[in-house]
Order: sequence, then structure tokens, then C-alpha cells
Amino acid sequence: MTFIDRAQVRTVAVIGAGTIGASWAALFLARGFSVVASDPRSDGAGHVRRFVDAAWPALRTLGLAPGADPGRLSFDPDPAAAAAGSDFVQESAIEDLALKQDLLRRIDAVLPVDRVIASSTSTFMPSLLQEGARAPGRILVGHPFNPPHLIPLVEVVGGKATDRAAVDWTVAFYDSIGKRAIRIEKEMQGHLVNRLQVAILREALHCLDQGVASAGDIDAAIAFGPGLRWAIMGPLMLGHLAGGDGGIAHFVDHLADAIDKAWDDLGRPNFTPELRRKFVAEVEAEARGRPMGELERWRDERLVAILAALRNANAL
Ligand SMILES: NC(=O)c1ccc[n+]([C@@H]2O[C@H](COP(=O)([O-])OP(=O)(O)OC[C@H]3O[C@@H](n4cnc5c(N)ncnc54)[C@H](O)[C@@H]3O)[C@@H](O)[C@H]2O)c1
Repeated sequence: MTFIDRAQVRTVAVIGAGTIGASWAALFLARGFSVVASDPRSDGAGHVRRFVDAAWPALRTLGLAPGADPGRLSFDPDPAAAAAGSDFVQESAIEDLALKQDLLRRIDAVLPVDRVIASSTSTFMPSLLQEGARAPGRILVGHPFNPPHLIPLVEVVGGKATDRAAVDWTVAFYDSIGKRAIRIEKEMQGHLVNRLQVAILREALHCLDQGVASAGDIDAAIAFGPGLRWAIMGPLMLGHLAGGDGGIAHFVDHLADAIDKAWDDLGRPNFTPELRRKFVAEVEAEARGRPMGELERWRDERLVAILAALRNANAL
């Protein structure tokens, strides 16, 4: 199957414009596309407009594409009408399988078959989302990280019926707009990245449960240590550097048995009422009453600074 020439992509449909969809809309506008957003909520148009306006200064700092204009945002509450004239669809509706399957079928019915439909789903495998589609080969998962207008990573996952060319097209498209797309070669629950994230969360909550450290110190243990290295290098490559002159082979020879034993000692907490209470109380204490909007601005300002520094260091 041949998909639309990427240079011909003018309009992106963002279907579902909540936390993730509004952020995708801001990114696509900043990369110079027209965006048609769709959402059934009564304040849908206002929400996405306010989000784009709030995100624009950060996107300007990071660099706008020629012609990028927040005025190229339009809104249509009917998802099929919003998708019909678009060149790429990014679906970000609520995480409900039956709702997404119905929504994707309605989009698939009206969108020319050489256009890709990507779902932002965090949990559903693409094979499930393709069921009953007219052209299932162009349906895949394009899973972003919050907020997609700042975090470059996106996981591209094909389902059983996805055309390999659709995966290739989508990886190239995302990369061309400044994302960093990774290919997930095998469908799994949670794709790849959330599996890694829940592994860390599991041990963080086990340590909180066991009283090893406070929530603030557990968060600092990542943010001021491994998190800084992880911004430039993943845990597998870090093993190569940890091996010194002998590199990864020495790392494995030296530490594999100790790591094996450490895995046996990892915790498996349950969300007991006591752990829930402790988790909520300690994180709320760490947040020090700052409203969510303030925390989001704090996060985004620092993310922009990190992204700019990585770009200056040719690390992005
Ligand atoms: N929040 C995250 O951190 C995150 C990260 C990555 C991916 N995702 C995925 O993104 C998607 C959206 O999540 P979110 O956090 O933005 O949720 P959200 O609740 O903020 O937004 C979902 C939006 O979908 C809309 N919606 C409901 N029914 C719809 C329909 N029939 N058609 C179109 N839109 C409809 C809702 O009105 C709402 O505005 C989910 O698939 C989720 O798994 C979320």
C-alpha cells in the first residue's frame, strides 16, 4: 500500500481533544499544519483553544515551522466530518475500547485509504482497534507521552493487520515533525514504555510501603540521579559505560549474578487501603498545595530548558 506523500500533508485531524489531544493539536500547529479538532464535550472548542494559547510561548521558544499559526485551528464536534478532509488522524479519545473501536470505524469509513489513523491509546493493542475496519492496514498506535507537544518520544505499534508501509510512513512523519519515534515490533499490553515505567513505580511504591524513604526522597532518587542520565542514554547503554574499559561484556561478567539476586529481592506491593492513603498523603505533602496549573507550568518551563540544552548539545 502506498500512503500519501508526506510533503503533501496539510491538515491533521485530532479526534478527542482532552489532555493529550489538545497537546497534540498544539504540536501539529507549531509544525505548520492546519488542525481540525473534534470532541463531544460542551467546552471542547474552548478547551483546545485555551490549551494551544497557553502552550504557544514554549513552542515558540523551541522553534516554530515556517507558517505555523495558532489561527489554523478549527473545531468540528462531528469526528467523521473533522477527519474526512484530513491527511493524518491522531485519535486521543477516552480510554474505552468499544468507544474507540466505534470511533475508528467511523473515521475509517470516510477517510481516503492512503491516510494513516494513529491512536494515542496507552493500553489497547492495535489489533483490537482494527477490528471491523474497511482499511485496517492503515490503523496503528502512535502512543505519546504527556505533554506530547514537549516530550519527543512516541511509540509506533502496528497490529496484526497493519501494513508495514503504514508503520514506516508514521515513523518518518513523526520524526519529520521533531518527534522521536520508536518502533514496537511486537504488540504487548502497555506497549514498551509504560511497562518500563510501571516496573519503576512498583519498586518505588514497595519502598514507600516498607518505609525505606519518603515520597519526596524516592522522587529525588530518580530526578536528581538516574533521571539526568536517562535524558541522554537508556539503561542498556548505561551498562556499557558502567563496565569501564571492558564495556558491556565486563558489566555482564561482573554484575549479572548480583543483578539476578537483586531481581529476586524486588517487591510486589498491593494497593492496600494503607498504601493508597500513604501514597496520596505523601505526594500531596510533596506538592505543597501548589495548584495543578502551577505544577504544569513549573514542569513545562523546566522541560523546555532541558530540551533546549539537549538540542544545543546535539543530543536531540
Ligand atoms: N494522560 C496521559 O498521560 C496519556 C499519555 C499517553 C496516552 N494517553 C492516551 O490518550 C488518550 C486520551 O487520554 P487523555 O488523558 O487525553 O484523556 P482525557 O479524559 O483528558 O481526554 C479524553 C477526551 O476524549 C473525549 N471523548 C469522549 N468521547 C469521545 C468520542 N466519542 N469521540 C471523541 N472524543 C471523545 C472526552 O470528551 C475528552 O475530552 C487515551 O487513549 C489515553 O490512553 C494518555
